Amino acid sequence: MKGIILAGGTGTRLHPATLVVNKQLLPVYDKPMIYYPLSALMLAGIREVLIISSPEYLSHYRTLFGDGSRLGLQIAYAEQQRPEGLPQAFTIGREWIAGEPVTLILGDNIFFGNGLGPMLRRAVARAEAGKGGATIFSYRVEDPQRYGVIAFDADGRAVSIEEKPERPRSNHAITGLYVFDAQVCDHTVGLTPSPRGELEITDLARRYMEAGTLHVEPMGRGFAWLDTGTHDSLLEAAEFVRTIQHRQGIQIACLEEIAFLQGFITAEAAAEQGRALAKTAYGRAILTAIEEEAYAPLPFGERRADDRRRG
Ligand code: TTP
Repeated sequence: MKGIILAGGTGTRLHPATLVVNKQLLPVYDKPMIYYPLSALMLAGIREVLIISSPEYLSHYRTLFGDGSRLGLQIAYAEQQRPEGLPQAFTIGREWIAGEPVTLILGDNIFFGNGLGPMLRRAVARAEAGKGGATIFSYRVEDPQRYGVIAFDADGRAVSIEEKPERPRSNHAITGLYVFDAQVCDHTVGLTPSPRGELEITDLARRYMEAGTLHVEPMGRGFAWLDTGTHDSLLEAAEFVRTIQHRQGIQIACLEEIAFLQGFITAEAAAEQGRALAKTAYGRAILTAIEEEAYAPLPFGERRADDRRRG
């Protein structure tokens, strides 16, 4: 499974803050916004990542992550000349995807909750298995007309998907996280722009729905899904992250910590990066994670990160 972060866009709703900075580089409390979607991909076990952004900002992401090796990842970069819709990720990325299953996440989406990793890994396993298919994640919202909306029949099967409907058929929005099988590039061929001039991810999802291979995972009360596209939602997301981090003494989207716990990098490599950032709670969290991992009691059958690395 490969992963794509779509981090282009125009960010017009965040002007003037985004006049000369790409939205996904703005901080959400204490780290760049793109750390959050990258952390979700890493929790899904994905190690090959393509970052797509507008030509003028791509070099910033290269400076931030390089080839990804310090996180145990392989990160590649590609330009999106103009933001002409989310499925463009699969035309821009077609060669890089090379016929594999792929997870797409939007650069301004934040997911947090107990069990997120296992939920994502289940969706990845499904897309990689023989029958494949796609998984989208739904989330109950107060204002569904702002989103792609999915409606279900009495048996819980998805029956309609509509982009920003005036009269939504449900309160279930489609989040900016999509797990697709190896056929996704072929399904993207032939999509046509909607009246607003963009290729729509809802049209792509509908193709899977009509083929009977669309899975919808509801994200329930235990999950937070935040997007950060407006000044208020950006500040609310920052406040959310700050509250959880302060209260629990944990970090949300600490990439080096996740890389270590997932077995992508060694304790030594993580510790070196933690020490370099030791003036911050972020850096100290990396060092604490290494200490705690060494002593924490393990649930039956689980192995320590270092053992996982040894295979
Ligand atoms: P949007 O919020 O739809 O667009 P935007 O970020 O350009 O902001 P605004 O509406 O304020 O002008 O995009 C959602 C996410 O998807 C965001 O992270 C940018 C990304 N995106 C792309 O990278 N390319 C695209 O073609 C589109 C439509 C979005």
